[in-house]
Amino acid sequence: MYLLHILSGRMLYKGMLMEITGSNILPLLLGSVGIIVLYKLLQRMKQRAYIQDTVVVITGASSGLGKECAKLFHSVGARLVLCGRDRQKLEELVQELTGGADGKRKTHTPNVVTFDLRDVDAMADRAEEIVGCFGQVDILINNAGISHRGTILDTDVSVDRDVMNINYFGPIALTKAILPSMVQRKSGHIVTISSIQGKIAIPFRSAYGASKHATQAFFDCLRAEVEQFGILVTVISPGYIRTNLSVNAVTGDGSKYGVMDKNTAEGWDPQDVAKAILTAVSRKKKDVVLAGMMPTLAVYLRTLLPCAFFPIMAARARKERKVKKN
Ligand SMILES: NC(=O)c1ccc[n+]([C@@H]2O[C@H](COP(=O)([O-])OP(=O)(O)OC[C@H]3O[C@@H](n4cnc5c(N)ncnc54)[C@H](OP(=O)(O)O)[C@@H]3O)[C@@H](O)[C@H]2O)c1
Repeated sequence: MYLLHILSGRMLYKGMLMEITGSNILPLLLGSVGIIVLYKLLQRMKQRAYIQDTVVVITGASSGLGKECAKLFHSVGARLVLCGRDRQKLEELVQELTGGADGKRKTHTPNVVTFDLRDVDAMADRAEEIVGCFGQVDILINNAGISHRGTILDTDVSVDRDVMNINYFGPIALTKAILPSMVQRKSGHIVTISSIQGKIAIPFRSAYGASKHATQAFFDCLRAEVEQFGILVTVISPGYIRTNLSVNAVTGDGSKYGVMDKNTAEGWDPQDVAKAILTAVSRKKKDVVLAGMMPTLAVYLRTLLPCAFFPIMAARARKERKVKKN
């Protein structure tokens, strides 16, 4: 009796398996693929609808991640204000964007506003110029930034101050100057490109890590304070991206580091990061880490088990120092 029960059970299972692997599998597969394609299509339409005709300001648009964001946001119909220090580079980008228009999609000619973020006191005037381009700002992407390489012992405090001005004081001054117009309209979205180093501190990048930790704290406060006005805040924390960030980094005496670090060279494609930023913005995400498994785990380790995180960082410092000596 027991044997019969097992045998009939097995036959039933075999029959079900044949049905799934036989005639039913194809429609099932096609259905799943169809649902995924439809979902992706709907997501793209949603992204386009959120960005189409909105005024998007991008700082640091002349190169790297900012340039890729400019291309992507332009392609989905944003009215762009491109910011940086180098007018010629930005004008060339405008030419590239407008020259590539295929007429099928509605795109807008971007505006250019130039400034150096070190000039913190000038941000109010620059903000006025930016708002004047299209009469409003819908999305501000604080992307411009500079990195640092050097020991704390050998880094002059003027370098810490300089990195802080570019990565922290400049962007918050710009944000504060644009904010009242958003509050008045009860609408706006502020996006800040921080770094995984805004969540964990890595040796020999003290000025950079400190500026990004300050950035994270400021924009977390801002998110809570401006929610009542319908203003959104998104903080993006990427891991390594294949750009010139390490080449443009400053050393302890303020000179240019000028080296493409291995980690940066092997980092994420900036185009992929720009796509992830567009997705995060259109889905109104609050805080997004765009990094691999190990850096993401390190963030959790720093929070949950700091006694394990600190020796790992000390070992990393020893290793890096040894590599530099050889
Ligand atoms: N690459 C990475 O591995 C990585 C990882 C995490 C986060 N990030 C963040 O991503 C953002 C973009 O960096 P990136 O990787 O694209 O590096 P990048 O290629 O060096 O671009 C930096 C941008 O910032 C602008 N900038 C630098 N100093 C400025 C200043 N004083 N005033 C105004 N603009 C200034 C530069 O404009 P100019 O043409 O005027 O120099 C340039 O457009 C930064 O906030 C960075 O911290 C990068």
